Amino acid sequence: MRLVFLGPPGSGKGTQAKRLGQSQGIPQLSTGDLLRSVARSGTGLGRKAQTYMDAGKLVPDNLVIELILERMTHDDCKHGFILDGFPRTQVQAEALDRALRTRHIPIDAVIDFEINPEVLLERLTGRRVCPNGHGEWHIKFHPSVVAGFCDVCHALLVQREDDQEDRIRIRMEMYRKDTEPLKQYYAQRQQLRTIQAEGDVAAITQQIEAALKGIARPS
Ligand code: AP5
Repeated sequence: MRLVFLGPPGSGKGTQAKRLGQSQGIPQLSTGDLLRSVARSGTGLGRKAQTYMDAGKLVPDNLVIELILERMTHDDCKHGFILDGFPRTQVQAEALDRALRTRHIPIDAVIDFEINPEVLLERLTGRRVCPNGHGEWHIKFHPSVVAGFCDVCHALLVQREDDQEDRIRIRMEMYRKDTEPLKQYYAQRQQLRTIQAEGDVAAITQQIEAALKGIARPS
């Protein structure tokens, strides 16, 4: 099964991609995670990506496209994948189409996460992440066992630079301007399935599973 998760920052793409990926045995390919890992490497490229991310802006298309297309060649993607946060621009969507056409592997569905912007703000300002990459928690919705500390390595949890309210608003505007138009792009291809992304995490997973009935393919 090959899926795209499309939705504004904080709509739960990552949370749901992890859950569905585990149940389906396919990897979650998050461009945000890939870029953060490049940024941690401290190379010139990593520092460049970090500057865009910290500002809440989109990283240039060529860098993101190269990263994700390379990741899609790994063995674990043979039977499918969930693209979490890619594509986010028309240029990225067209590059993905071209790459998949060459390999004769179509996207099965694009899940569109619909959500009220006020909910996003509460979700993102309350998120805390492990500085060593062990995961993320939420001060209200998904607290760590010892408040403020990583459940895995016990490091002090931190707030993502782009989870500051001013940066969240920039990310939401980037989504509205650059990414939201992709809904129409995929609707025209009859690939778009819209779900309501508010409420209980497990209930949202069920909605996604229901949206995929009849269109999912085994490989
Ligand atoms: P990225 O890391 O992808 O950030 P994002 O899309 O802004 O996504 P988030 O991780 O903030 O939200 P999400 O929808 O995945 O929600 P999540 O499940 O985490 O990208 C970061 C940056 O990288 C971008 O700004 C850009 O600079 C760059 N980038 C990435 N991809 C790019 C691309 N293709 N092109 C160019 N640049 C790119 O949940 C959020 C919070 O809500 C969590 O705390 C979670 O616990 C909580 N939560 C989730 N679901 C629920 C629920 N049902 N109820 C209560 N709380 C919930």
